[in-house]
Amino acid sequence: ADILNTQSFGQRIVVLDSTVSTQQDAMRLAEEGAPEGTVVLAEEQTAGRGRLGRKWYSPRGKGVWLSIVLRPTQPLAFTPQLTLLTGVAVCRAIRRLTGVEAGIKWPNDLLIHGRKVSGILLESATEDQRVRYCIAGIGIDVNLNKEDYPEELSQVGTSLKIEAGREIDRTVLIASVLEEMEQLSKLYAEQGFQPIAMLWEALSVTMNRSVRAHTGQGITVEGTAVGLDPSGALVIETDQGERIQVISGDIQL
Ligand code: BTN
Repeated sequence: ADILNTQSFGQRIVVLDSTVSTQQDAMRLAEEGAPEGTVVLAEEQTAGRGRLGRKWYSPRGKGVWLSIVLRPTQPLAFTPQLTLLTGVAVCRAIRRLTGVEAGIKWPNDLLIHGRKVSGILLESATEDQRVRYCIAGIGIDVNLNKEDYPEELSQVGTSLKIEAGREIDRTVLIASVLEEMEQLSKLYAEQGFQPIAMLWEALSVTMNRSVRAHTGQGITVEGTAVGLDPSGALVIETDQGERIQVISGDIQL
């Protein structure tokens, strides 16, 4: 804990050897009243969860698999902002520690040379339109070797070790992520989403690119990604000049 320079983020860390998903564990702690910044961390997840019902491959000892309890005060409509904030935090930590120029693909896949190195899953518990808490799940492929990837991930996934050419200390990386989370949360609390959106746009590989978005409601939109709107939605401008906001879903670059 000596290497961790934070007030709240990671001041309580539950370390598990093996678990189904740290999302579930963090949710249980949040239900029991755990404060903002409480972290659950596991060496291995047996059923790690990704966005859109996907699985998240979480092999033992090779990555950072953690979940953070967040207690936002804004309405549910603002939670996409927290997803983007978390992506910025992880991206900055990776860059700072490894020197590798990871970029953010909307909403928050972190890519290096077009391959995914990290993913973020933000889940919210609500009650009458009010957010009770959010769980920010962060998965980072840290020390996986090429041969550690199963067939279906070998072309799309990469690790920090593969990209940086050296082992990365997971403890130091976790401390950097939690420090960035705390700093950005403070900035967000004091100045709102605007400065976070600017950081996100600067780190993003999505901006000004031609994209195809699948919104999850079965709708496909094609156009150019032109920025974030104040709620954190991605704004896509179609060839007809129409601007469409995408709140959730997936994009292809
Ligand atoms: C995605 O890119 O689809 C999001 C992946 C999120 C993975 C992390 S690993 C820690 C936490 N626990 C989970 O089960 N999922 C998140």
